[in-house]
Amino acid sequence: MRSLTAALALLLASSCQGFVAPSHNSHQIITTTTPSSTQLKKQPLSRLSVATDINAVGAPGTADLPWSELGFEFRPTKSHLRMTYRDGKWQEPEMVESPYINVHIGATALHYGQACFEGLKAFAHEDGSVNLFRPDENAKRINRSGHRVMMPEIPVETFIKACNDVVKDNVAYVPPYGSGGALYLRPLLFGSGPRIGLQPAEEYTFIVMVIPVGDYYKGGLAAPVNGLIVDDYDRAAPKGVGAAKVAGNYAADLIPNMAAKKKGFPICLYLDAATHTLVEEFSTSNFIGIDNENKKYITPKSDSVLPSITNKSLQTLAKDEGMTVEQRDIEVAELSTFDEVIACGTAVVVTPIGSLTRFDGNGEESKYQFTEDVGETTRRLYDTVRNIQNGEIEDTHNWNYKVE
Ligand code: PLP
Ligand code: COI
Repeated sequence: MRSLTAALALLLASSCQGFVAPSHNSHQIITTTTPSSTQLKKQPLSRLSVATDINAVGAPGTADLPWSELGFEFRPTKSHLRMTYRDGKWQEPEMVESPYINVHIGATALHYGQACFEGLKAFAHEDGSVNLFRPDENAKRINRSGHRVMMPEIPVETFIKACNDVVKDNVAYVPPYGSGGALYLRPLLFGSGPRIGLQPAEEYTFIVMVIPVGDYYKGGLAAPVNGLIVDDYDRAAPKGVGAAKVAGNYAADLIPNMAAKKKGFPICLYLDAATHTLVEEFSTSNFIGIDNENKKYITPKSDSVLPSITNKSLQTLAKDEGMTVEQRDIEVAELSTFDEVIACGTAVVVTPIGSLTRFDGNGEESKYQFTEDVGETTRRLYDTVRNIQNGEIEDTHNWNYKVE
């Protein structure tokens, strides 16, 4: 209902501005069978569905790429969208083929980190259409992040249209239906005007680049990932910028992240900076603990955690299936009570965490072990959200936006 209202508001706004909004494609594809994650993943390349009946935006998956081997790394595509804020207003967007940008040496993004970004995905459906997952949520979040570091607002309809248009121009790079991949959109907003005294820029650049991606962690759902609890560093301070998707948060994570990987832990879990007693979130994703006996989905409540759109979606799906969702403080000691732990986010989707290890000051190790294989709840949540994204079950919450 909420999304429907948003879609109507969007259409209304667009008709006032001569902008044709992507239609909100709900309830379009209903299948009675629900392919499981493993069924989807294991299709041989020859059976991947490269849509033959070209729809309004063209056929996804026609670029010459190894679709079933995509990981999460940069790959060139046809174009990115670029738009500049100058003289107090946004200029017309343009599609740019060169992946390089000419930036002033005094740009505030370079010196003072006045930059934030987003991450969302577009999926090819079996009918050849391409659909963005909840772009309205990313639009709202980039504005919250931008506001935190004094950057201008991007109207929600402008943001969604930018995403729509860049996907359309790069439709050949949308991984085909059945490949398990997606087109990852990376909207980026930064101060491109010069300042040397500390103050906000007068000029800003907004970019939406796209990259075809597969699993963030090799093996995807099938391979639980072991995490390290970080004690030597913090990701975000209370009242700091942890809830904003600003570039500096990720720079702060580089040392602990790389050190953890070196020790054999692909993922880091941060604790609250003030006391180091409460679970916050992973470097690139939110934390979810599952208590199967009591059918509980538990996730941290903290002002320094990024409000994840995937987490929000999974909470809705968990409630739909009768689970109790608790958003509250989670003591580190409570980790031993969870049957399953999940890292969730656009890039990592629903990643099962096999174990979490913590070293004390003397190098003594304590280890919290979760399900060895993929837990039943993890698998169910993964399957449901992926089936919605792939257009394989009814999109009852109106989360998919058809690219037009
Ligand atoms: N937490 C952090 C620090 C992230 O970078 C991300 C990724 O965007 C998330 C959580 C997950 O957010 P979302 O589900 O909106 O992608
Ligand atoms: C995303 O999931 O979209 C992110 O932005 C995480 C990123 C650091 C890979």
